[in-house]
Amino acid sequence: MVRLTWLAFCAIAQCSFAQQILVNHKFGEIETRLDGCLESAWPPTEIGEKIKPQEPSAELQQMLSEIDPARIKATILKLVSFGTRHTLSTQTDPNRGIGAARDWIASELRSYAAASGGKMTVSTPSYIQPVANRIPFPVNISNVVARLEGATDPSRVYVITGHYDSRVTDILNYEDDAPGANDDASGVAVFIELARISATRRPAATILFGAVASEEQGLQGSAFFAKTLRNASTNVEGMLNNDIVGSSTGDRGQKDPFTIRLFAQGLPLTETTAEQQERLRIGGDNDSPARELARFVKEVAENTYTGMKIAIIYRLDRYLRGGDHSSFLQQGYPAVRFTEPNENFDHQHQDIRVDNGVHYGDLPEFVDYEYVSRVAKVNLAALWSLANAPGMPRNVTVETTTLGNDSLLRWKKGSGEAIGYEVVWRATDVPLWTNVLNVGMVNSARLQLSKDNVIFGVRSVGNGGLRSPAVIPFPG
Ligand SMILES: *[C@@H]1O[C@H](CO)[C@@H](O)[C@H](O)[C@H]1NC(C)=O
Ligand SMILES: *[C@@H]1O[C@H](CO)[C@@H](O)[C@H](O)[C@H]1NC(C)=O
Ligand SMILES: *[C@@H]1O[C@H](CO)[C@@H](O)[C@H](O)[C@H]1NC(C)=O
Ligand SMILES: *[C@@H]1O[C@H](CO)[C@@H](O)[C@H](O)[C@H]1NC(C)=O
Ligand SMILES: [Zn+2]
Repeated sequence: MVRLTWLAFCAIAQCSFAQQILVNHKFGEIETRLDGCLESAWPPTEIGEKIKPQEPSAELQQMLSEIDPARIKATILKLVSFGTRHTLSTQTDPNRGIGAARDWIASELRSYAAASGGKMTVSTPSYIQPVANRIPFPVNISNVVARLEGATDPSRVYVITGHYDSRVTDILNYEDDAPGANDDASGVAVFIELARISATRRPAATILFGAVASEEQGLQGSAFFAKTLRNASTNVEGMLNNDIVGSSTGDRGQKDPFTIRLFAQGLPLTETTAEQQERLRIGGDNDSPARELARFVKEVAENTYTGMKIAIIYRLDRYLRGGDHSSFLQQGYPAVRFTEPNENFDHQHQDIRVDNGVHYGDLPEFVDYEYVSRVAKVNLAALWSLANAPGMPRNVTVETTTLGNDSLLRWKKGSGEAIGYEVVWRATDVPLWTNVLNVGMVNSARLQLSKDNVIFGVRSVGNGGLRSPAVIPFPG
C-alpha cells in the first residue's frame, strides 16, 4: 500500500514531495528506494525549474479584499425580487419580469461606469429572436454589457458572463415565480461585483462584463454575444462563464465550501477534421486553448487569497446540461465554465413547492453568500491576471523536419507587451504543467529535452512577472 503511494508520487511529482511523506512514515525500506526515484525524475530535471503558482499583484490583492458578500447577497435578492426572469416574461412591467431585471442590471452597471472616468461604458445589445424550439413567439433578447476599456492593449478582450434569465419546471412557463437565486443570479452577482471593483482601475486589455439572456431557452443571448464579437474579428483570448455558483451543499447534505469546478472542453469545436487529426497525432487533445485557460486559472486563483481549490473537469459540461461558454467555443474562443461542486437538482429548474416534505425551488435560502464571494475572488484573480498579462504567443511551432533528441520551438509575439517568454512542459500523462524554463526575450529556443517525451507549451511573460496562458506547439 505504502509502496504504491510512493510509486504514484515518483511518477507524477517532484521527489522531494515523496521524500517528505516517506520520512513522515519512517519506513526504512521505502526510503532506500527513494534514491532510485531521485535518479529517474521524469521529465528529466537537468534544465528548468519546478513551476510555481503565480502570486496576485499588490493591486489584485487589494481588489480581492474589496469583494463584499453583503453586496453579492443584495444583488441576488434584487434579481429574485423580479418574480420571474423567464426570457418570454414581460418586458414592460417596471417591477416584474425579465425587462425590469435587464433595466436594473443596466442601471447598476451604469452607476459603476459613472465612477470610471469614461473608461467603462454600458450597452444593451438586442435582437428579435424569431419563433424556434422553446421560443413560441418572437421575443426581444437583450444582453447587458459593461465594457472596461484596456489601457495599453484595448483590442485584446476577455469576457465574463452570468445569465440573468430563469425558469421553473416547464420550460415554457413564463408566468410563475422563477427566483433563479442560484441559477443564475449567483453568476450575475459575481460579474456585477467584479465590474464594481474594476470600474475605477485600468487593466491593460479590455474586459467585457456581460449579463446574457435566454440561456435556458437555448443559449441565444450568449450565441448573439459571441457571434457579434466574431463578426467584428474581435480578439477574445478568454471567456469565463459563471453558472450555478451559489451553493456548496449537495443533495445528501454534503458540503465542499472551498471547491469550485471548472469545466474545460478537449478538442476545439471549430477545428477542421484535418486539424483535429493533427492534434490527435501529436497528443494535443488535452491541450485545447480552453484547457490551457483552465490550467492558467488554477495557477493564479488557487491560493490563500481566494481560499479556494479549483477542480478542473476535463469535459465540456455536466451530463444533460449546457452553458454559455459553448457559444464562445463555437466561435473559436477559449471559454470555460465555473459551477459549484455538488449540485442539488431539487433547487434548480423547479416549481417552488413542498412535496413529501422535500423543498423544491431555486430560492435564496439555499444560497451561501460567503461561498459566492470566494467564487468571485477566483474569477477576479483569473480575469485581472489575464487582462494585465501579455497576450498568448502566436504561431507556436516545433521543428520536426529531422530526427533529433532535442526540441526546437519557435513562436511569434502576441498581443500586448511581453518582456520575455517561458517554455513550460510536463510528462504526457499528467494533467498540469510541472516544469518551466525562462528563455528571455527571444522567438525560438532549443531545449535538450525530447519532444517525443513531454508536452511543451510557450507563454508570454510581462512586467511584474505576469504570464499568459500557455500555447502548445504544432509541427511547423
Ligand atoms: C429590445 O430591447 C432593447 C432594450 O434592451 C431596446 O433597446 C430595443 O429597442 C428593443 N428592440 C425592439 C425591436 O423593440
Ligand atoms: C454576423 O455576420 C453574418 C454575416 O454577415 C450575419 O448574417 C449575422 O447576422 C451577424 N451576426 C451578428 C450577431 O452580428
Ligand atoms: C500564423 O498562423 C496563422 C494560422 O494559424 C496564419 O494564418 C498566419 O499567417 C501565421 N502568421 C505568420 C506570421 O506566420
Ligand atoms: C541524441 O543525443 C546524443 C547525446 O546527446 C547525441 O550524441 C546524438 O547525436 C543525438 N542524436 C540526434 C539524432 O540528434
Ligand atoms: Zn444556468
